[in-house]
Parts: sequence; C-alpha cells; structure tokens
Amino acid sequence: METRLLDARTDPEPALEEAASILRRGGLVAFPTETVYGLGARGLDVAAVERIFQAKGRPHTDPLILHVADLRWLQELARELPPTTLEVAARFWPGPLTLVVPKSSRVPDLVTAGKDSVALRMPSHPLALELIRRVAEPVAAPSANLFSRPSPTTAAHVLADLGGRIDAVLDGGPTEVGLESTIIDLRGRVPVLLRPGGVTREALEEALGSVVIPESLVDDTQPQAAPGQLTRHYSPHAEVFLYDGPDAQVVEAIRQLSEEPGPTVVLAFSEDLPALQGLAVSVIHLGSRADPEHLAGSLYAALRDADDLGAARIAVRTVLPGGLGDALNDRLRRAASGRILRPQ
Ligand code: TXA
Ligand code: MG
Repeated sequence: METRLLDARTDPEPALEEAASILRRGGLVAFPTETVYGLGARGLDVAAVERIFQAKGRPHTDPLILHVADLRWLQELARELPPTTLEVAARFWPGPLTLVVPKSSRVPDLVTAGKDSVALRMPSHPLALELIRRVAEPVAAPSANLFSRPSPTTAAHVLADLGGRIDAVLDGGPTEVGLESTIIDLRGRVPVLLRPGGVTREALEEALGSVVIPESLVDDTQPQAAPGQLTRHYSPHAEVFLYDGPDAQVVEAIRQLSEEPGPTVVLAFSEDLPALQGLAVSVIHLGSRADPEHLAGSLYAALRDADDLGAARIAVRTVLPGGLGDALNDRLRRAASGRILRPQ
C-alpha cells in the first residue's frame, strides 16, 4: 500500500477533506494532535479498528483511546459518568488529558481489549478536532509509531515507522507538547493517575483535590497500572543509559561509557555541553534542564535521531521532578528499560 502524505500546513482544507473521507471509508490516517501523532480509524467500526492493531503490530491486549470532538459522546460511550467527569472534562478538554470511565455497549470490545472501561480524550489540535468532526464518529487512535518505538512528533516519524502500512498521514507540522496525554481513571472515589503526561499532576490536584499515584509509576517491580505501560517502551534501538546524580560524577560515568566499542550518543542539556567537550561522543542537544516544556518537545525526535546516527548506546540524565518533568522522567525510565544508574 502506498501511504499518501496530505499536507495540511499551508492549505488545510483539501487535505482535511481527503483524510476524513479515507477514515469514513474505514481506512487508516495518521494525524497530528497537540501531544503526538495518532493513528486514526473509525472507532466504532471493528474492521477499521482491527487495521490499527495490524499496522502497528500492537498486541490486542493493549486498549485504544477514543478521541471525540463533542462532549455529547461522553454520554454515548460511557455506561455511567463518574461524578467528577463533566467537571474534569469542562476544565481540561480539549487538551492532553485522557479519562477512563465505565464503557457502554456501543464501544467494541476490540477497542478496550475486553476491559469494562474505556479511555476517552478530546484533543485540542485544530486539525484533530476538525478531522474528528468530519468523521462524525469517535476516532480510535494510538500513537502512530510501530509497537515499542518512540511516539512520533512529526509526519516524517510516522512515515519512517508506518510508511507503506497505512493509507495516509495528515501533516500538520511538529506537535506542540511532544509527550502523550495524561491518563486518569475516574471510576474510584479518588482519581488514579495511570500515565503522567501533558496535563501535570499539580494541575490535576488543584482541580480534583487529590490524585492517587500508583506504586507502579515510580517502582518497576510493581504490576503496571495501564496495560500498555510496559517498562521497555518508548524505546530506540540503542541501549539507553539513564543517569541520576551530581554533574561531575555523571560526566565521568559518560566518559567511561564512551570508551566502550561503538558510537555513544549523549542527549545533553545545555548546562552540560561544556563538560562534554573533548569526550568521544556525539551530542544531541535537548535544551535547558530548566525548561521541561522544551525538553518534552525534543525528547522523542532526539531518541530517533540517535538511532539514525547509528548509536550503539545513548546516555541521558533524568530531569528535575515536578510539572512536565515527571512525564519526561517516566518516558526516560521506560526508554532505559526501567534502569536508573546513580554514579557516586
Ligand atoms: O496523547 C495521547 O494520548 C496519544 C494521542 C494520539 O492522543 N495517544 C496515545 O495512545 O498515546 P496510545 O495507545 O499510544 O496509549 C494509550 C494508553 C495505553 O497505554 C493504553 O493501555 C491505555 O492508554 N489505555 C487505553 N484504554 C485504557 C483503559 N480502558 N484503561 C486503562 N488504560 C487504558
Ligand atoms: Mg503509544
């Protein structure tokens, strides 16, 4: 299959209409959201949804998010709405927050991997919203990467993974946030954070009072909260060495690492650039350690670039916790298969 590139950057109208028409016919179109590119299909059409699993090589045990452009779908897709749902949706939608609620019988079991709950999100990207409106049905969309690759933040990333496997990519330029949506489960008395992401824990706590943070989000020996949150996830091909510790010790550890055979690529903060000079490493600049929004926007592209440079290994440091830093550290930890090195 030839994958068409539908350029919506300068003149969105024809590209949007073609993308919507492919989706309405049951095809697969990758499209930009404010977080990452999603791989869309008609969400209530089992045959279309099945194509998503085939194209990505995604196991059927990993449920999909349904994307909506209109609040009225909440009532249709949820068997019942937990008391806080409408308030949370009013506060954070459209935006990078996914809500897990009890599923209604309209949602195919294939979408939810047989679970009794469904994940719903209203993205804020204007192209995503308009595309979903034109399809006039919820759009199922996982991140548009091959299973276990970093999520795509540009149309080129999508094509690198899924070119030849999907009908089209709607190119809306690079995505804004760069990391996936935050997922919360609203079914219990207190909401449970299943995946840190574009909406920060602080913003959730301010709106909801308190939020449960499962042990599994900070400790990899615990069972996973969201089924797709495997530890080795968001992974480049190269082995990732994730460091946490004082500047001098981390740089020394990277120097030792660079003596191993094969190219070492460092994903570096601006603050670390001087100390890395003179080491036998390639450097990809992520941005300032003090600017988590910028780092979020560059992380996935940097992991892919490191692979393209032929990295045998990738070295990177944890970022400061809090705000988007928590989501960044979560993705870094998964890219590093859960292992954090603490040089003394
Ligand atoms: O930002 C995002 O959320 C992007 C864009 C495209 O919207 N989508 C995305 O989808 O990241 P995906 O499929 O790559 O990740 C969705 C996660 C998976 O880990 C999945 O297991 C979890 O959501 N999930 C889906 N339905 C769930 C449910 N009913 N209960 C718990 N977790 C669920
Ligand atoms: Mg994904």
